[in-house]
Amino acid sequence: MSERKQQVSRRQFLNYTLTGVGGFMGAAMLAPMVRMAVDPVLQPKKEGDFVAVTEVSKLTKEPQRFNFKIEQVDAWYTSEVTKAAWVYKKENDEIVALSPICKHLGCVVNWEGGQGHEDRFYCPCHGGLYEKSGKNVPGTPPLAPLDSYKTKVKDGTLYLGEAVPNMEV
Ligand code: FES
Repeated sequence: MSERKQQVSRRQFLNYTLTGVGGFMGAAMLAPMVRMAVDPVLQPKKEGDFVAVTEVSKLTKEPQRFNFKIEQVDAWYTSEVTKAAWVYKKENDEIVALSPICKHLGCVVNWEGGQGHEDRFYCPCHGGLYEKSGKNVPGTPPLAPLDSYKTKVKDGTLYLGEAVPNMEV
């Protein structure tokens, strides 16, 4: 039985070398493109993004509407968006900040929006009603309370964070 020599021919050597170098160059070119496409999506959402909305001294027991701007990031596109909140102080001075977005189909609710709706939020789209606390009134279209904003007070200024489902009503 003859022993065959394992030799790499010049052609094989060239193939291996070119494949290796080509693969390395391809990966080096693709990596930044893949990173650019995927990176914004993988960024963790910043916690604790609060926006200054008004001075606490301006708040009353009656809900008032305040508009404020936030920077919204959708993947790699950043835009400035105007948001609104109905804000008031409870009897114990606790601050309540409700989202005006109706939980039925997303219209904007108003405070005391019409006759017979005193002390309630009213949604003009389908007659949705909410108590002052944001709790939906049974028998009207909304099936959940208005979302409430996270609040923070610093140096007499009210800051609002993200709106979250209202679990307190
Ligand atoms: S969207 Fe508000 S009641 Fe329908």
